[in-house]
Amino acid sequence: MITRTEAIDLIRQKVPNENLCRHMIAVGAIMKALSVKMDDDKDLWEITGILHDIDLGVTEDPMQHGRIGANWLKAEGMPLEMTDAILAHAGHSECKTNLEILLMAGDQLSGLITACALVMGKKLANVTPKSIKKRFKELRFAAGADRNAIKMCEKVGIPLDEFIEQGLIAMQSVSDELGL
Ligand SMILES: [Fe+2]
Repeated sequence: MITRTEAIDLIRQKVPNENLCRHMIAVGAIMKALSVKMDDDKDLWEITGILHDIDLGVTEDPMQHGRIGANWLKAEGMPLEMTDAILAHAGHSECKTNLEILLMAGDQLSGLITACALVMGKKLANVTPKSIKKRFKELRFAAGADRNAIKMCEKVGIPLDEFIEQGLIAMQSVSDELGL
């Protein structure tokens, strides 16, 4: 498996949009925390999170997004669990494994938490689990963050409240890199 630094270098080469790179770093941090919770492969989960949107620099077509990235990463020798999760998070297959389910859920959670930080002085330090839970119920707030996808955490036995707390702590741990 490539290192975290190598993965971040790779997304910076492929994705010129800094906010998208930060989004991927956020999802990487969330996935790393979840791997510990699920007692699974920490490196695989973290790197999958960091690389999951690697093709967004070349396509925004929902039919292509995920497929292009998965093909690139297959060619780079990345494991099938990773490329399958990337395909599933973009809707090309059903989310079945823990990694697939939590990549889908964590991707959307990161969007909700980022939106919360942006209205709290642009600082993750100002965000509390309680404030995220309140915003979760306000469907017009960060409407792009799919609440049903976030709730998929419950499918693998993680209560929503715990998922939100873990996601926040994980993102706070990389707040400097996220600029939040
Ligand atoms: Fe994403």
